[in-house]
Amino acid sequence: MPMNIGYLTSNRTSAGDEVYTPFYAVEPLFEFLPKDKVLWCPFDEEWSAFYQLLSEKGYKVTRSSLKEGQDFFKYEPNKWDILVSNPPFSKKNEVLKRAYDFNKPFALLLPVNSIQSKQRHKIFKNEIQMLVFDARVDYHTRFNMQSTTKGNHFGSAYFCRNLLPTKLELRKLNKYDRPLIIAEN
Ligand SMILES: C[S@@+](CC[C@H](N)C(=O)[O-])C[C@H]1O[C@@H](n2cnc3c(N)ncnc32)[C@H](O)[C@@H]1O
Repeated sequence: MPMNIGYLTSNRTSAGDEVYTPFYAVEPLFEFLPKDKVLWCPFDEEWSAFYQLLSEKGYKVTRSSLKEGQDFFKYEPNKWDILVSNPPFSKKNEVLKRAYDFNKPFALLLPVNSIQSKQRHKIFKNEIQMLVFDARVDYHTRFNMQSTTKGNHFGSAYFCRNLLPTKLELRKLNKYDRPLIIAEN
């Protein structure tokens, strides 16, 4: 039976922030990300699927992490061109505000219903693009880094700015399991 992971998802508490993106949810971005630009993943450890997969595919990637003292709201790398990641959902308005303030392209994976909010519409200023999938993304949790926790109750989409060719792009998710961290025997 699918586990109820409502407490880990689009809620407004930081408990819901600790969910981790599966590799398959990073793949749809390949079509849109240029290889000659520096991608910044600001919520990501070395084992994060964004950092691992984009590096493997030959993108120039820089990452930073709160656990290593780099708070997204204070820190910025010297050189970067496009912001790419799955941010803490509990801080999505603040993250979006800062992303717009940088005035550079971004792709942020968020619950799909984040599109609807009076506050966020002020932030979006009708300058938002969405990459939407035919299926829901299931996430890893710190208790399940080997496979995703199936049966997520909310859909996810990339909220983008100056990155997609149109305001709305629909793509198929090709799901597979790949551990974020290889378990030691
Ligand atoms: C939804 S998780 C996604 C992690 C990773 N990007 C991924 O996709 O697997 C968001 C992460 O952002 C971290 N975080 C929360 N506040 C932060 C901040 N101010 N600066 C940087 N990271 C933060 C959380 O601890 C959490 O690990």
